[in-house]
Amino acid sequence: MEHMDVPSIRPRRLRRTPALRRLVRETSLEPGQLLLPLFVREGATEPLPISSMPGVVQHTRESLRKAAAEAASAGLGGVVLFGVPERKDAFGSGALDPDGILNVAIADVKDEVGDALTVVSDLCLDEFTDHGHCGVLDDAGQVDNDATLAVYGDMARAHVAAGVDMVGPSGMMDGQVRVIRSALDEAGASDVAILAYSAKYASAFYGPFREAVDSSLQGDRRTYQQDGANAVEGVREALLDVAEGADIVMVKPALAYLDVIRRVRDAVDVPVAAYNISGEYAMVEAAAAQGWIDREPAILETLTSIRRAGADIVLTYWALEATRLLG
Ligand code: PBG
Repeated sequence: MEHMDVPSIRPRRLRRTPALRRLVRETSLEPGQLLLPLFVREGATEPLPISSMPGVVQHTRESLRKAAAEAASAGLGGVVLFGVPERKDAFGSGALDPDGILNVAIADVKDEVGDALTVVSDLCLDEFTDHGHCGVLDDAGQVDNDATLAVYGDMARAHVAAGVDMVGPSGMMDGQVRVIRSALDEAGASDVAILAYSAKYASAFYGPFREAVDSSLQGDRRTYQQDGANAVEGVREALLDVAEGADIVMVKPALAYLDVIRRVRDAVDVPVAAYNISGEYAMVEAAAAQGWIDREPAILETLTSIRRAGADIVLTYWALEATRLLG
């Protein structure tokens, strides 16, 4: 063949060696950009495995300290703490009790790691209520937005008293960021930041989390969490939270909402976080356990896709593992 029609423009040139591929890689994934969610169970005497989240446990107070120390030496950005109380009631009283599990856990972890990690608290009532909703209910059994706001303010004060660095309001009540910002400021905690769960969707992928926090939700969360069909609304929620004083806004879940992450990233001028949630974790772990996908590359590909979509910060149960894989 005399004049073979060969391409002169060849994208493959930049894929030839590992060094070339490293040189042109657009998206980074670093331990400092990752937050590790951790569960701690009141009264537990040994760590309890969560069957739907292989590799994740409900910690004892002692094992939580060890996990936090490990996260600090791995150079993670921080940890997000979830408390599992022994007793739940309609009002979620355990959330406000200074001796309640989440409050003591915040103090334990701060005592263990100091400023080596950013310690974030999940600020929500669903772990503490016997009905499993993120707020208190009115006489008709509906989640009462404004009555819940007052409780969130008290919860923020309790987390501050325990020494938290950042609170993560996740209940999707209207006005929650504004109320929590005032509560923090009035408590003299103007340095404590707010990581707002802003665009949070009513998702089937929260399933394993319910086991993680022993929650038996009555009904569903569709009157306060968003409809998965809505992306514009996710941007609106994020903009509202920024206006109310959020320091970081979050999109959750991550994988089924990568477009929302991108839209929010383009719309706000604060850092954007995304939560790679329990069901997304479980999907990969379950398929890998069957030998259907290659687990480690799947983990890195998942986390990289969330960063590529526009998340500056990723909440992931694989934070430690990913750090090892990157190392
Ligand atoms: C609310 C909260 C939830 C998760 C984080 N914070 C549950 C929900 O809103 O239904 C889910 C996290 C996950 O599934 O990994 N406290």
